[in-house]
Formats: sequence, C-alpha cells, structure tokens
Amino acid sequence: MSQERWTEVDRYLDNLLLSPDPGLEAALEASSAAGLPTVNVAPNQGKLLHLLALACGARTILEIGTLGGYSTIWLARSLPSSGRLVSLETNPRHAAVARENIARAGLSDIVEVVLGPALESLRELKAQHRPPFDLVFIDADKPSTAEYFASSLEMSHVGTVIIVDNVVRGGRVCEPGGVDSNAEGMRRFLDKVAVEPRVSATAVQTVGMKGYDGFLLAVVTSPAG
Ligand code: SAH
Ligand code: DHB
Ligand code: MG
Repeated sequence: MSQERWTEVDRYLDNLLLSPDPGLEAALEASSAAGLPTVNVAPNQGKLLHLLALACGARTILEIGTLGGYSTIWLARSLPSSGRLVSLETNPRHAAVARENIARAGLSDIVEVVLGPALESLRELKAQHRPPFDLVFIDADKPSTAEYFASSLEMSHVGTVIIVDNVVRGGRVCEPGGVDSNAEGMRRFLDKVAVEPRVSATAVQTVGMKGYDGFLLAVVTSPAG
C-alpha cells in the first residue's frame, strides 16, 4: 500500500463523514500562508480527538503542542460554552497564528494559548492548583513526552483520558538504539507507561494522508499519589 492510496482513502472518508467547518479550513489556510510546518493532525484524526472528548464528556482539556491551533479547534468544538481548553506552545510565531485561528473560529472565550516551554508552563499550571483536566492531548517535542505524561497524570482524575500523538514514527519506535531521537523519546515514554499502575493504555498504528504513525490512548484508572 502506498502513501498515495492512504491519502486517497482519507479523502474518501473525509468527504463522507466530515462536515465542512470554515473555522478549521481557515486555520489550515492561515497556518500554511504563515509558513508553519504541516504537522497538524489530519482532519479525520482531528475528528477522532473531538469525538473522544465528546464521548468522555470533557469540560476541561489540556493540550501540549498548539502549532496553528488546528487540533485545538477540533478539541474545543467538543466543549460546552462553560468549558475550558489550555494549550501550551513554545514558539511565539506558532502561538500568534494559533490565537488568530482560534479567534476566527469563535473560540477565544474558551481557549487559552499559553506561550513558553511546556515543562515550565506545566509547572505553573500545577502551582495554580486548578481542578484536574478531563482530557489531555500530548503532541509537542517528542523527546519530552515522558515528562509531559508524568505532569499530565499529576493534573488528572480517575477517568481522565490522555492521548499521545506520533508514537509509531514510521515504525521506528520498535528499533532500539535507533538514530531517530523522536522515536527514542517515544520508546522512553512507552517504557514508563508500561509500568505506570495508575493508567490503562493501548496504542494503535495509523496510516493516512500524514503517513504512518500512531496514537496512544490512556485512561487514568486509579488516583494519583
Ligand atoms: N497539535 C498540533 C500540532 C503540534 S506540532 C495539531 O495537530 O494541530 C508540535 C508543536 O509543539 C509545534 O508547534 C512546536 O513549536 C511545539 N513545541 C515544540 N517544543 C515545545 C515545547 N518545549 N513546549 C511547548 N511546545 C513545544
Ligand atoms: C512532527 C510532529 C508532529 O506532531 C506530527 O504529528 C508529525 C511530525 C514532526 O515534528 O516531525
Ligand atoms: Mg503530532
């Protein structure tokens, strides 16, 4: 099976199952016009995130890695008007484009883009003693994924859903001692999840317009501490 075929099938499925959303489409156009890397989730993956958030009745969402806010908008579209989404982004240019995209999508009241290295922002969030998040989407620099997961767990409750993007990296995740630092980061993260007693987790491989990669899904099953 080829990349062309995967893309063709994604287009087929998107046409059948996804409704046009001007806010999402404008976000992709503005992100591309601003020269942002096109590493946003695919539309059908964005809708998967949206449906997972709906299915668990999320009212508060934490996202790590905003880029132009494409996955942010998908996730925020699942929230009630009283809901809140906090998204962490270290690149000021990405954050600026994201804030514009989020405003255009009419979501500025429920979405906050926090500028700065996620490890620092996570420390600040923890210090604020907010209520725990109902859903977390981790999609920033891959080598820090293990640390992002640990912090997310500290800000979770029993039932919190944690989703991690890019856990397969074209299959390189199962090459120990490989040269891909992103895949190595995912191995280190997966080793930690495997022995983490507070979550139940699975991972699935994905193909589509974004190539060959995968998602991890974890549900917090026992309290932190
Ligand atoms: N979730 C987005 C894609 C995120 S791409 C979507 O699907 O639409 C990864 C993002 O993480 C990039 O914008 C990158 O600038 C950001 N990033 C990289 N290192 C980071 C760090 N240390 N802290 C916060 N964000 C970081
Ligand atoms: C990259 C980052 C992502 O979040 C993604 O989904 C695909 C690729 C990257 O930085 O290469
Ligand atoms: Mg990603």
